[in-house]
Amino acid sequence: MISVTRKSHFNAAHRLHNDDWSEEKNAEFYGLCNNKNYHGHNYDLEVTVTGEIDKESGYLIDMKYLSGIIEKKVCDRFDHKNLNLDTEEFKNLIPTAENIAVVIWNILRDEINPDFSISIKLYETQRNIVEYSG
Ligand code: NI
Repeated sequence: MISVTRKSHFNAAHRLHNDDWSEEKNAEFYGLCNNKNYHGHNYDLEVTVTGEIDKESGYLIDMKYLSGIIEKKVCDRFDHKNLNLDTEEFKNLIPTAENIAVVIWNILRDEINPDFSISIKLYETQRNIVEYSG
């Protein structure tokens, strides 16, 4: 088995808020990420694909294809968006880094050969990192 990783990046705004909780509980639990006027993060994304090398091409996956679908299906969709207000995915889903990673994984899962496994690493800050692999 071999893995390749493509790095990419998008900027997006969000607010973490659970409508079932009081304003006080939300403020206390989510802290700065509960700011009612939203705030932004510079998200760094690493997508790792794992599988077997194609004997004919010598590639695992064509990086042009991988980078293209990440740009088109993920970055174009979320870059410079307010995740809560501008995207269908987070209308009813709290846009935590965990949930964003799961959403991205599901988007890419549909686009990548099912023989390969996919792992998502999302950096919400340089110190807060989430990984999801299905
Ligand atoms: Ni935040």
